[in-house]
Amino acid sequence: MGVSGVGKSTIGELLSQELNMPFFDGDDFHPKENVLKMSNQQPLNDDDRRGWLHTLNKLAIKHSKENGCIIVCSALKKSYRDILNKQIQDHSKWVFLEGSFDQIKERINNRKGHFMSSELLTSQFDILEEPDNAIKIDVSLTPNKIIEMLKKELINKSDFGLFGLGVMGKSLSRNLARNGFRLSLYNRHVKGSEEAVAKNFKSEFEELASAMPFDQIEPFINSLQKPRKIMLMVNAGHIIDSVINDLLPFLDADDILIDGGNSNYKKTKERYDYLKSKGIHFIGTGVSGGEKGALMGPSIMPSGAKDVYKKVQPFLEAIAAKDANNLPCCTYIGPEGSGHFVKMVHNGIEYVEMQLLAEVYVMLKALGHQPDQIAYILEAWKETANSYLLNITIDILRKKEDNDWLLNSILDKAGNKGTGNWATIAATELGVPSTMISSALFARYTSFFKEERVAASKNFESTEKKNLDISQETLLKAYQFARIINHYQGFNLIQKASDRYQWTLNLSELARIWTNGCIIKSDLMEGLVPVFETTNNMITYEDIIQKIKFLKPSIKKVVSEAVLNELPIPNFSEAINFLNSFAVANSSANLIQAQRDYFGAHTYQRIDDASGKFYHTNWETN
Ligand code: 6PG
Repeated sequence: MGVSGVGKSTIGELLSQELNMPFFDGDDFHPKENVLKMSNQQPLNDDDRRGWLHTLNKLAIKHSKENGCIIVCSALKKSYRDILNKQIQDHSKWVFLEGSFDQIKERINNRKGHFMSSELLTSQFDILEEPDNAIKIDVSLTPNKIIEMLKKELINKSDFGLFGLGVMGKSLSRNLARNGFRLSLYNRHVKGSEEAVAKNFKSEFEELASAMPFDQIEPFINSLQKPRKIMLMVNAGHIIDSVINDLLPFLDADDILIDGGNSNYKKTKERYDYLKSKGIHFIGTGVSGGEKGALMGPSIMPSGAKDVYKKVQPFLEAIAAKDANNLPCCTYIGPEGSGHFVKMVHNGIEYVEMQLLAEVYVMLKALGHQPDQIAYILEAWKETANSYLLNITIDILRKKEDNDWLLNSILDKAGNKGTGNWATIAATELGVPSTMISSALFARYTSFFKEERVAASKNFESTEKKNLDISQETLLKAYQFARIINHYQGFNLIQKASDRYQWTLNLSELARIWTNGCIIKSDLMEGLVPVFETTNNMITYEDIIQKIKFLKPSIKKVVSEAVLNELPIPNFSEAINFLNSFAVANSSANLIQAQRDYFGAHTYQRIDDASGKFYHTNWETN
């Protein structure tokens, strides 16, 4: 593509000979009416061009199913290219022949028998919308040089690079390859432990036949089409920074790095700014679904500059899970590190969902059930409380090793990789009461002190027989209540961050991309998609108000019984305590304010003074 006179036909024909591909000149496909108009010196308008562009698109689709072809067409406007690209956007490559006005005018006028008026050329430049995802070629180069450059770019160059072939990197690579993308795969070389990782991985899977494996950075980078798109799948933390610095010397302006790890959202913003100063784009993206999700379709939460996202959108959407309407579970989240922020809160919600199931297990155990019986009970819960985490918990409860349940052999110290910790920090920084996430996190921390716990149990653990007076039905209702509060708190944290950082996040879209592919997918999440279309505050939604009211007696009963029986249920208890603290018109914070004013003269406001004025009292002498 490019303006008239830029040399498209010459280059196109030469390239078709070199690549042994059919060549088509767009001008040969105009309908009679257009030809007539042009021969009468009348310019074509968008309506005239539409049918012609669709004809060229059909031609491209037909040849993309065979061995491809080369088409030249001015395609000056983005809307023209959008038509030309229909159905083949993942398989087409644009070449923009670029030259200045004077340069082109001179070239044409130097050609024997050709003349182009300044006016005609000006009109072409006026409507030219430069493509941002094309191989740009300076037409002052010789045709041979141009062909040489294009061959380098088009032959054996990959569409997408995957850096880091750990569990997630490998699964995403296979997913990308299955979607027809040509990949370059990189894994570092560490003598003795990580040798020929990319090469061995490629030879293991048929779908990677066209992928190129590397353990050296420079050839890996050079194997990619420009602007390069490289997804980093390395451990979150300082490793990302050192990888970025290793890559930088080999990258060119407008290349795109995508961080698909669980990075801290503040670091993502810093990296975005740093790379921007170097002319490199950065997309921070949450990826959820674990190993299987990455392979079969994860939920993807990308953020950064929207126009840059557009360039990686076809790749991410192709590999993402699909929702009930077959739409990709991938959506542009917002600017800066918002993608990693929402992934962090996703994990916070995940921590709570896991903890609630652990507490259900504690209570059902106290009711005298063995793991397989608990699995049987939970199986019935699928009808009203189905979720991915409920399903995997059922599988876990059924897993046996020799003659005992494997669960009984697992050390009760819960690990974490930091996202729950960051979510709690973010909540405190934003001043948002995400009490269930912090409670689930602290439950993991509590578990970690195994030796101290064993010692404390000798002094304090009750040896009395448990006498838990709750039915399975009541427990299920309490569980449903706690999950609603968990989702309310999680989405509320996201909304407050969106307000503070002016991210204008779309909670309904977020709930939608969490309906499949991710760890917290559930029927409840499906139900929240329409809720968030009408409000950002789910506990003001009539159906949810009614549900909370209906379920509340059950959680009060369950928490009371569990506390009387000394069962650890911090998340269940936090759920009802949160609502008890939040849903009160007049709280005990008046006493806190008075205490603060007493010892620190921190002042307080009065309910009988609407001006909001701050008062101080000399408490001791009054
Ligand atoms: C996911 C998971 C995944 C992982 C987290 C949580 O959405 O696929 O959240 O990202 O499980 O790292 O890990 P921790 O429990 O170790 O903090």
